[in-house]
Amino acid sequence: MDKTLLKTISGEKTDHMPVWLMRQAGRYLPEYRALRARAGNFLDLCLTPAWATEITLQPTKRFDLDAAILFADILLIPMALGQKLEFREGEGPVLDKIEDEKALAKLVYDEKKVMPVFDTLQNVKAQLPQNVALIGFCGGLWTVACYMLDGNSRNGFSRAQSLAENDPQMLDRLFEILLNASETYLNRQIESGAEVLQIFESWAGLLADSKFERWIVKPTAELVTRIKRKHPKIPIIGFPRESGIHYKTYAEKSGIDVLGIDQNVSLDVARDQLQKIKLLQGNLDPALLVAGGMDMRRGIEAIIDKMGPRHIFNLGHGVVPHTPPEHVAELIKIVRERTGP
Ligand code: CP3
Repeated sequence: MDKTLLKTISGEKTDHMPVWLMRQAGRYLPEYRALRARAGNFLDLCLTPAWATEITLQPTKRFDLDAAILFADILLIPMALGQKLEFREGEGPVLDKIEDEKALAKLVYDEKKVMPVFDTLQNVKAQLPQNVALIGFCGGLWTVACYMLDGNSRNGFSRAQSLAENDPQMLDRLFEILLNASETYLNRQIESGAEVLQIFESWAGLLADSKFERWIVKPTAELVTRIKRKHPKIPIIGFPRESGIHYKTYAEKSGIDVLGIDQNVSLDVARDQLQKIKLLQGNLDPALLVAGGMDMRRGIEAIIDKMGPRHIFNLGHGVVPHTPPEHVAELIKIVRERTGP
């Protein structure tokens, strides 16, 4: 096998450190903006295999990346469950929020609604260069529940947080629905060509200490167990963003293979505490990728020198829209030069 990302995950020696970037496809690329303008609507872009395939491949055509990540969104699961979803210009996602038990009872996973995602994976797999791995994904159950319950991110997901505190039964029922849907969805992604999965738990940092195990660690462990029952060899990257002191518990107990860390984790803590437990992925500040130059170089070198060579290079969160594409090329060049033969 000649995919550096997969080799690194399985503990084999490689000739460089693998690198890919969260949101490596997106608005910072002019070719993305051009296709996005033609499509008009972000959801149509995700759900039209010819477009989603093209966009997934765009960054791999420009840059020497070790992975492509499926172009889709974590909110396609609520959509497939029958919840109304819109992406408004300049506002982000807006859902018809789940008000009560009656609304919960109406949620039924309809796989037909996400079928284009599986077609995209098959198309991409057929066109991807030999050395580039294909990553599938879903959202963490807590993060997806946050959007489903609050409808948008304007109020810091106060309703989801309040339910976690005051109505765990209702939240449990929603989690069970999401668990079943995510399990089916991810299994189907693997069967369509995904070689690695990432679970994006973007809002893990919202939960206080006592709630973290209950709503982040346990549900993730259950999802991972179910996926591995059917596909024991599939590597899973968990990214419980902004988990701070809880990263360690997540690494120990969630059953994931690789731990994604955000830029707030110090490299000393990453190396001395987390790297002992799991292979790590991360964690350059996306703002340094915007800045470029010596600041970016120093940030990249610090990660490589502290964490290398058994590490997956990535950002601490996604590429932001005003990132100059040349800086991405420069980042990859630096990683290759400093970690290569
Ligand atoms: O990483 C990739 O390149 C793969 C594609 C991908 C997207 N969203 C495309 C997208 C992935 C893996 C996601 C995950 C996602 N979606 C997360 C978790 C990661 C994170 O960023 O924390 C979350 C929370 C969402 C929900 C979501 N989708 C939000 C909050 C927004 C609006 C914010 C924004 O950046 O506009 C989206 C829209 C979205 N998803 C865009 C892209 C490229 C921008 C859409 C556009 O072109 O206008």
